[in-house]
Amino acid sequence: MNERLIIRGGRRLNGSVAVSAAKNSVLPILACCIMSAKEITLENCPRIADVFSMVEILRSIGAQAELKEHTLTVNCAAADPKLVSAELTGKIRSSVFILGPILARFRRANISYPGGCEIGLRPIDLHIYGLKCLGVKISEEGGIIGCDGSEMSGGVVNLDFPSVGATENIMMAGVLADGKTVIRNAAREPEIVDLQNFINFIGGRVYGAGSDVITVEGVKALHGGTYTPVGDRIAAATFLGAAAITGGEVCVTGVQPSALHVVIEKMRRTGCTVRELSSGIVLQAPRVLKPVHKIETQPFPGFPTDMQPQMTAVLCRADGSSCVVENMFENRFKYTVQLGKMGAKILVKDRVAVIKGTERLTAASVVAEDLRGGAALVTAALCAEGTTHISGVRHIDRGYENIEDSLRSLGADIERVR
Ligand code: UD1
Repeated sequence: MNERLIIRGGRRLNGSVAVSAAKNSVLPILACCIMSAKEITLENCPRIADVFSMVEILRSIGAQAELKEHTLTVNCAAADPKLVSAELTGKIRSSVFILGPILARFRRANISYPGGCEIGLRPIDLHIYGLKCLGVKISEEGGIIGCDGSEMSGGVVNLDFPSVGATENIMMAGVLADGKTVIRNAAREPEIVDLQNFINFIGGRVYGAGSDVITVEGVKALHGGTYTPVGDRIAAATFLGAAAITGGEVCVTGVQPSALHVVIEKMRRTGCTVRELSSGIVLQAPRVLKPVHKIETQPFPGFPTDMQPQMTAVLCRADGSSCVVENMFENRFKYTVQLGKMGAKILVKDRVAVIKGTERLTAASVVAEDLRGGAALVTAALCAEGTTHISGVRHIDRGYENIEDSLRSLGADIERVR
């Protein structure tokens, strides 16, 4: 569908908005459901394109999966992974998450290579390496990854880099394996802690998530139940950014401030007043934003790469120059070209962006080319003079449920047109 967001900028955002469960928690948890033959219900699920795609993938392997309002019910009792649809797994990158769980339960998996995406090459060598450490035999031919887990068991995996997806995949692969799996240099993102909590909730034995060593003790079977994943810290931070750039005051609920400490710290450097609640964050913007000397994206607990574009948009309005370094993905500044059309002054060289703040951003017709880059365009448009037209909304819909509704509830002048 060819949809556009129309945003008339200049309205100060005020009020309160709640976030749903984190996309990056729900996706691996959904894959994890493959390992259980019992019914599992997930509450507060976002109705976003990536979740719909994962639901399709589960159905394509014979599972029952249904999203009603924000409650997602999954039953993988009848799953038969021989049926994995290459067309579907080729479509979303998160499909790689099903590899570990399918191997764990069925000891065999064939899926098509997920390939690159808009923000970078995104290889899966660390996923493959980890599975090999658990005794899985892997062949790659014609874009298909064939995995034979007939001799798989626990093992030790030393990751070169704390990849989020590889950590999760290996963690899941170890859940039903004989013996103990140890992952060193594991990623420490809050969503990994959430995956651990979920696995343990349905009867697995995982500990250490949140630190750089995760231990999984294999169990024979998992059960079901109702679980509520953690709130979406990136969606929350995006709304805080929208408050900052419009000079507003917004309370975001449903998120743990500890998941956003570095973002909160950088927001404070811009002159915002930020208050942490037990399950929420309040941000009050200053009259004039200050620049931030340097922001570098890092694995958690560093500054999240998924908030880099929105933060860069905010800094476009600061009174001075800021510098943002992208260390996680090689191609994550494409959106700056679109921001340039709105009067932003951003110089990008390789992985570094230098942002010269300006008092005025102006409306333009711009194209969202990836999820968070799209969110950055929305952020900028909220304070731009005039009416901004954003196309490529399907990218934004991958991670935000009707972003226009949330922003309108905060006072933004925004609508979606076909
Ligand atoms: C996850 C998040 C994504 C976020 C990213 C980094 C989900 C569904 N997605 O993606 O929103 O931007 O973490 O916080 O949770 N790499 C390799 N080989 C591998 C795996 C990764 O070289 O086998 C590289 C990637 O190309 C990238 C870096 O490691 O440059 C980080 O990737 P990773 O942490 O794996 O991110 P994802 O799990 O893909």
